[in-house]
Amino acid sequence: LFCQPCNFFFAAQRLDQLPPTNHPEVAFCGRSNVGKSSLINAVTGHHGLARVSNTPGRTKQLNFFDLGGRLTLVDMPGYGYAQASKSVKEDWQGLMFDFLRGRPTLRRVILLLDARIETKAGDRAAMKLLTEAAVIFQIVLTKADDTKAAWLRQRQDEAAELVKQHTSAHPLVITTSSETGLGLPELRAEMAALAIP
Ligand code: GTP
Ligand code: MG
Repeated sequence: LFCQPCNFFFAAQRLDQLPPTNHPEVAFCGRSNVGKSSLINAVTGHHGLARVSNTPGRTKQLNFFDLGGRLTLVDMPGYGYAQASKSVKEDWQGLMFDFLRGRPTLRRVILLLDARIETKAGDRAAMKLLTEAAVIFQIVLTKADDTKAAWLRQRQDEAAELVKQHTSAHPLVITTSSETGLGLPELRAEMAALAIP
């Protein structure tokens, strides 16, 4: 799967603009700046595919990528970006949450948590929404290269606890770094299992 080409094919700003649903989809979701776009680039090995930025709020649409005609990846705008205006935040979050709740082909949400910082209210709200909508989400810790081992272990314990608290959480938590490649094989294996054979 990951030897095949990966191409951007669609950007949606509104729910009525979504592309037709015929492939299984995996959406990358999490706080602004948590590393969603970076992880899509790293996991596919196509650097420059999804736009990455130091400035939170870089991804403003739902961006769809086709992976080998077998799996669709969705790069989502982040939540919890404090500097965005209220109306902009409501637009993004409305789009994001409506998509997460109502997309029939969405097979899994990869929920990214920054390994360097504690879980925030926005993360808990997202997990609650996904659980209520019965959408399976898998916690992926990001930026593990930028943490100390003891701190990382605490974050992994916290993630394991969050899995226990949410019926729609996937049991496997994956610790990753888009910089060093840590955890990417595990994430690829999860994605390959969801793709069209
Ligand atoms: P929005 O689109 O704004 O919601 O952000 P995003 O979640 O897509 O984050 P993005 O991939 O744009 O990355 C944000 C910043 O984090 C960039 O400066 C990246 O270089 C940095 N970053 C991403 N992944 C890693 C990682 O694994 N390790 C480290 N050290 N930095 C990372
Ligand atoms: Mg992004």
